[in-house]
Amino acid sequence: MACQTIRSAARLRPSVLGKIIPDSLTSSRISSSRFVRKELFPSSFYSQVRMTSSSSSDIQNKFALDNKYQGLENNVWVEFIDLNAKLQPLNLGQGFPDFMPAESVVRELAKTCDIEANPLLHQYTRGYGHPRLVKALANLYGNLINRGINPMTEVLVTGGAYGSLFCAIMSNVGPGDEVIIIEPYFDCYEPLVRLAGGTPRFISLKPENPTDASSASWALNMEELRSLFNVKTKAIIVNTPNNPLGKVFTRQELTDIGDLCKEFNVIVISDEVYEWLVYEDNVHTRIASLDGMWDRTITIGSAGKTFSLTGWKLGWSYGPAHLMRNLHIAHQNCVYACPTPLQEALGAQLEKEIKRLNTPDSFFYKMVTDLKERRDLMVRSVRDSGMIPVVPEGGYFMMVNWKPLENKADLSEETDAQADYRFVKWFAKTHKLLGIPPSAFYSNDHKHLAEDYLRLCFYKKTETLQKADEILKHLKNS
Ligand SMILES: Cc1ncc(COP(=O)(O)O)c(C=O)c1O
Repeated sequence: MACQTIRSAARLRPSVLGKIIPDSLTSSRISSSRFVRKELFPSSFYSQVRMTSSSSSDIQNKFALDNKYQGLENNVWVEFIDLNAKLQPLNLGQGFPDFMPAESVVRELAKTCDIEANPLLHQYTRGYGHPRLVKALANLYGNLINRGINPMTEVLVTGGAYGSLFCAIMSNVGPGDEVIIIEPYFDCYEPLVRLAGGTPRFISLKPENPTDASSASWALNMEELRSLFNVKTKAIIVNTPNNPLGKVFTRQELTDIGDLCKEFNVIVISDEVYEWLVYEDNVHTRIASLDGMWDRTITIGSAGKTFSLTGWKLGWSYGPAHLMRNLHIAHQNCVYACPTPLQEALGAQLEKEIKRLNTPDSFFYKMVTDLKERRDLMVRSVRDSGMIPVVPEGGYFMMVNWKPLENKADLSEETDAQADYRFVKWFAKTHKLLGIPPSAFYSNDHKHLAEDYLRLCFYKKTETLQKADEILKHLKNS
């Protein structure tokens, strides 16, 4: 009898009202669960079924968030995307343009959906990356760092750069390992290292001259950096150009970091998603191209940042086969493969870009020329408002010191621990302009270093930037 009850219970499923209805009776013909309960089974049947079912508190207790995710519940993007939806302010928070990406890449995607196109473009492709795309990536980066790259063993295509960060960290870091993270840092580095069981060790870039308005003056203290390296150090994560600061690490800085890695046998996870966005005479140096660094560097890129299509959520990593094998294994045990049509379109677009690299027709050239104008527009607006910009050498974010306008803000209603969170929320609510609080890009002990700033994204339509200018003027005159 007990067995029969369990078997019967297995065929039952809860209704939306929390009552039990047999599968066969959930058609529109019988829509009332009260009817089902009363007419079809004696009440003793239901009490037996209840005894074999877990209560909702049992379920909640057993399936509480697993320990490995405890402490990682809060996420700046979740919070601020929500705030944006609620307040509908001018959104200079997230890093993407509010206009159409380049026509040519969008058309490449449309081609994959042509009814005459290869039907297999709608099916799974090779797990480590669609052949057309990995070949294009190997070709592109092989030329840029002046070495042959094997598309099959030395490249991986992932769900955004995020996916590559996940695979690089999960497959190379474990309990007992330390990973050095340079602040400010893209916020996911820290939780990923902790999820992998590793311990993050933080070092902050600091402005050598606080009144200097360029990201170039934010530097690492190399003695302090050296003091973080030890036998447990497995990796250092470098992000150049840096988000949120816009700092472009110099060749010398990267060489110094590389030398420490060689001395202590450490790998570099080099997040270069803004590699094409470098202004004026600054040069993006790929750390993998430095003497002796290929063997110990995993370099990460993003289609979202490369072609301004963050919604495609495609990224990649490349590096020596002995390191990429680790990432391949993490990837095959996670999402296994990325969407085929997107990879096909991206591969086709990259083939075109490779041919026009370093010419004025190159998309990368056009993008950086266009963005420099938007950056300069925002620098002027920020300076006119009385706030102080940290003029970025790269990327499309700007750190802005809001302290000079502190007396215009009434933060008394805001409850966040960090002043930048309080200011950003107050600003979004009262002046309808949303930025991101950059203390989100610092470890707990160092968040105070960012409290005087907010991060603004200037990859927006000219009208959007003009509206931002008006809002900033209004704040100044309030
Ligand atoms: C420095 C940095 N790395 C990685 C990413 C993630 O890129 P993707 O959207 O391709 O996952 C971002 C996104 O903003 C970023 O700024």
